[in-house]
Amino acid sequence: MNKMGFPTCDQNRKTADFQLPRTVSDHTGPLRMENLMAPLSNTDMRDIETLVHPYTNLATHRQSGPIVIERAKGIRVYDQHGKPYIEGMSGLWCASLGFGNDEIAETAREQIANLSYTHLFASRSHESAIELAEKIKEMSPAPASKVFFTSSGSEANDTQVKLLWYYNNARGKPEKKKIISRLKGYHGVTVASASLTGLPANHTDFDLPIAGILHTDCPHYYHFAEAGESEADFSRRMAQNLEALIQEQGPETIAGFIAEPIMGAGGVILPPENYFQEIKKVLDAHDILFIADEVICGFHRTGEAFGSLTFDMEPDSISIAKAITSAYAPLGALTVNEDMYQAMLNQSEKIGTLGHGFTYSGHPLATAIGLKTLEIYERENIPGHVRTVSAIFLERLNRLADHDLIGETRGIGLIGAAEIVSDKGRKQSFDPSHGVGAIAAEFCRDEGIILRPLGDSIGFCPPLIIQEDDIHELFDGVEKALDRTQAWIQESGIQN
Ligand SMILES: Cc1ncc(COP(=O)(O)O)c(C=O)c1O
Repeated sequence: MNKMGFPTCDQNRKTADFQLPRTVSDHTGPLRMENLMAPLSNTDMRDIETLVHPYTNLATHRQSGPIVIERAKGIRVYDQHGKPYIEGMSGLWCASLGFGNDEIAETAREQIANLSYTHLFASRSHESAIELAEKIKEMSPAPASKVFFTSSGSEANDTQVKLLWYYNNARGKPEKKKIISRLKGYHGVTVASASLTGLPANHTDFDLPIAGILHTDCPHYYHFAEAGESEADFSRRMAQNLEALIQEQGPETIAGFIAEPIMGAGGVILPPENYFQEIKKVLDAHDILFIADEVICGFHRTGEAFGSLTFDMEPDSISIAKAITSAYAPLGALTVNEDMYQAMLNQSEKIGTLGHGFTYSGHPLATAIGLKTLEIYERENIPGHVRTVSAIFLERLNRLADHDLIGETRGIGLIGAAEIVSDKGRKQSFDPSHGVGAIAAEFCRDEGIILRPLGDSIGFCPPLIIQEDDIHELFDGVEKALDRTQAWIQESGIQN
């Protein structure tokens, strides 16, 4: 075993008679050692000597090298050897319209030719930012008075934190500043948004979370329900625990609560029955603003325009990014309700300029692409398509639960996960040091399917344009990969 507890390559060679594919990196931690047999190319070496890769085990990367993607079209990406893969994660949950869309390419060309850059500072503006903000206001499941643009989900959530602080100073409640998020929630990586994130890898040795950010329970019924507890009772208990945390801190100190409709990077965890209704009652009782982080769910992922609608969340504000441009350009945003806007307006009257904004807030290339993306969603009836193919997607996903390794499948629309366990009866997970989820994802990749290990869950989030045949191809590959994972487990003698 190497020092992370993963099998060394020599051990792999002894225990497995197939070649392990090269490593992909996950969101949650280090992956296993790589097949050192494959020689590193010149491109690999240049990569290793030049890049710090985000969310990558830097030590294993030096041995495994990168996976270089050369081109992409539709739902497929192609590596440097020309091997095609179904991009079962839409990149990072974002490329909803797939890759290489000619219409969006033309929009980008025209926008760059016409107005490659202007900004929104100091009252400067431009048409596509205004029009996209209008569209977001129209669509928003939260009461939206105004829209603030960023370039990423992290920046959107960071801005949420700052505006909550600003708002409560403006309305004379300077003690009301703490924000509650959830264990296993994911909200980004900037200092404040990483603090909201409830995953250890984002805190360890980064000296996070910052003060004033608190985490309440992860509402994963499969793992955390008590014996005999119904989903509705479980949700009530989650809300009671939130209430207890608020009481312990003092309700007058809590400004906001942030939650993803579906926890994405935490394992694609769907809310249990009545969860958000129970939570909302607690928030309303204490004048706590409810922010829905729609960065993954927003724009039809669940089969509805927003996860907030699917789960009847009734948030006060939303953060969005990713699918708003289908990842053709970096763009994020958040909505501001009228009450908060009025408080901010009063501040400007008192202290002047709102001292917040990014060089690329409302970048014209991003907003033009955002508008075109929303136009395509509507014109091509992407929501209708998602609802149609979702039935096949969920049927094939749920069928994975028949596999000996899969303890739970969960999904809605075109997002889902299959969780690998060592003992289905006891819902027992493998020791994380074995990296079984990562190994399964490697086998998937070898089968031509890119998916994401989220701990020992395998995440699915294919482009929304995926067709029925592609869904079957995707799950046929996953089934083979799970069989290979099971064989690998048996040959390696891993117990749990
Ligand atoms: C729910 C959620 N919020 C925020 C973020 C952060 O977005 P970004 O990576 O664009 O900063 C992500 C990224 O995966 C996310 O899934």
